[in-house]
Amino acid sequence: RACKMASGSAALSVVAVAMAAALLALCGSTEAHTQFGAYNKTCPQAEDIVFKEMTAVVAKSPGLAGSLLRLFSVDCFVGGCEGSILLDSTTNNTAEKDSPLNKGLRGYDVIDSIKAKLEAACPGVVSCADVLALAARDSVRITKGPYIPVPTGREDGNRSSAADVTPNTPKPDASITGLITFFGKFNLTAKDLAVLSGAHTIGKAHCSAFSTRLYNFTASNNISDPTLDANYTATLRGQCAAGDLATLVDLDPNSGTTFDLGYYRGVAASMGLLSTDGALLLNEDTRAYVTCQANATAPAEFFADFAASFINMSKIGVLSHHKGQIRRHCSAVNPLSASSQAPVTMGAHAAVLLASSFVSIVALALVL
Ligand code: HEM
Ligand SMILES: *[C@@H]1O[C@H](CO)[C@@H](O)[C@H](O)[C@H]1NC(C)=O
Ligand SMILES: *[C@@H]1O[C@H](CO)[C@@H](O)[C@H](O)[C@H]1NC(C)=O
Ligand SMILES: *[C@@H]1O[C@H](CO)[C@@H](O)[C@H](O)[C@H]1NC(C)=O
Ligand SMILES: *[C@@H]1O[C@H](CO)[C@@H](O)[C@H](O)[C@H]1NC(C)=O
Ligand SMILES: *[C@@H]1O[C@H](CO)[C@@H](O)[C@H](O)[C@H]1NC(C)=O
Ligand SMILES: *[C@@H]1O[C@H](CO)[C@@H](O)[C@H](O)[C@H]1NC(C)=O
Ligand SMILES: *[C@@H]1O[C@H](CO)[C@@H](O)[C@H](O)[C@H]1NC(C)=O
Ligand SMILES: *[C@@H]1O[C@H](CO)[C@@H](O)[C@H](O)[C@H]1NC(C)=O
Ligand SMILES: *[C@@H]1O[C@H](CO)[C@@H](O)[C@H](O)[C@H]1NC(C)=O
Repeated sequence: RACKMASGSAALSVVAVAMAAALLALCGSTEAHTQFGAYNKTCPQAEDIVFKEMTAVVAKSPGLAGSLLRLFSVDCFVGGCEGSILLDSTTNNTAEKDSPLNKGLRGYDVIDSIKAKLEAACPGVVSCADVLALAARDSVRITKGPYIPVPTGREDGNRSSAADVTPNTPKPDASITGLITFFGKFNLTAKDLAVLSGAHTIGKAHCSAFSTRLYNFTASNNISDPTLDANYTATLRGQCAAGDLATLVDLDPNSGTTFDLGYYRGVAASMGLLSTDGALLLNEDTRAYVTCQANATAPAEFFADFAASFINMSKIGVLSHHKGQIRRHCSAVNPLSASSQAPVTMGAHAAVLLASSFVSIVALALVL
């Protein structure tokens, strides 16, 4: 039997239509555009370079697969899949990555080293937003999940504000209705929520993300969350002593480094680590999806669903048609003389030279 689930409930499609109308009004007629193999001609080895790097990185540090998958989803939900999570704060701007909510994110250095390899092979061609998308899909593939043919051609944005993070991050204690509404804001359905939460089949969470459920659960006047399996609670207390906010714990207690059905089996057995994982059992449709996948004998259907929902997520707020730029370094917007408007024949070296000579002239002028 298939884990069928309506892709859009009646209530949701109203939201979706309103959202689509609003977005259309905002964007005018030029629809943001991604396609399979956008770098076929301009950097044919791009996807291979990312995969090779990711394979080496995950072989050395298996935990980074989850970190890079999460990095991409956080990028997409805050201002779209346009690489803004990678931008560093500047003297007059606190960037997304420095929001307290994003302090736990890891893997920035992996993106930087992949980007350096890509710049060496094809200067100024592959966007940081696409590096994130490709690294995330490779994390899934390398941990034995599906190969996701993710469309590319995203451009990089240059806005990254810590103030955008809170309204675009689900609260740790969000209700299932709140989560469905949150996903609806991005035109993602309750099914996308049930499916994408399956990403928590790999990776870890800090004790701080769930310790309230163990020691400090007030909602029902209980010390611990009564919806959490009692043995699992005891195990978790062993891993996270009271007040320990830093230790990392597998999100999927069954198989934390393999992309499989272990997450759904855990959630169905009241062993969803985060409150938002357990919440999937509190809506009839998301619960049905979870218990169905928990009973599945093979992951094929989850894999196909995940690929589709991942691609849906990967299209949030994409920049194209020169609305964005191709950043040279993922942590900073390009200096003006090296923007995407620069002639494509100008190599990165020439651009850097030009930029630095401009800086020296300005510096000289200031000194004189
Ligand atoms: C339903 C909304 C979601 C919520 C509330 C949520 C929340 C969280 C939280 C609190 C953590 C732990 C962070 C930490 O303590 O360091 C986490 C980790 C993670 N999340 Fe989610 N998440 C959601 C959706 C997603 C999606 C859509 C994806 C990807 C498709 C994803 C992938 C991951 C991964 C792989 C990790 C492990 C990170 C690591 O090992 O470094 N999450 N998530
Ligand atoms: C992904 O988006 C497409 C169209 O945008 C939609 O038909 C489909 O239902 C979505 N996928 C899921 C799993 O909701
Ligand atoms: C939202 O999803 C529907 C299908 O579920 C799709 O037709 C529509 O184009 C999407 N809108 C946006 C803005 O992505
Ligand atoms: C790139 O090549 C792949 C495989 O041949 C093909 O499926 C895809 O459509 C191509 N994309 C472009 C933009 O040429
Ligand atoms: C912030 O500083 C950058 C240079 O670092 C400058 O280009 C920009 O105009 C400044 N923005 C504001 C709002 O001051
Ligand atoms: C319980 O949680 C609140 C925040 O949710 C925190 O301020 C408080 O210090 C916690 N108490 C204990 C004993 O951990
Ligand atoms: C507290 O948790 C226990 C299970 O540990 C449960 O039986 C009881 O109903 C909970 N109390 C409240 C008020 O929810
Ligand atoms: C949970 O713990 C109790 C007591 O330690 C034990 O009897 C029981 O078998 C455990 N249940 C599971 C499912 O591990
Ligand atoms: C299988 O599905 C049933 C409901 O259809 C559910 O009660 C049961 O917990 C599921 N099995 C597992 C291993 O989660
Ligand atoms: C931000 O991006 C826009 C569009 O690409 C560009 O016009 C603008 O100059 C950029 N600003 C900075 C500071 O790079």
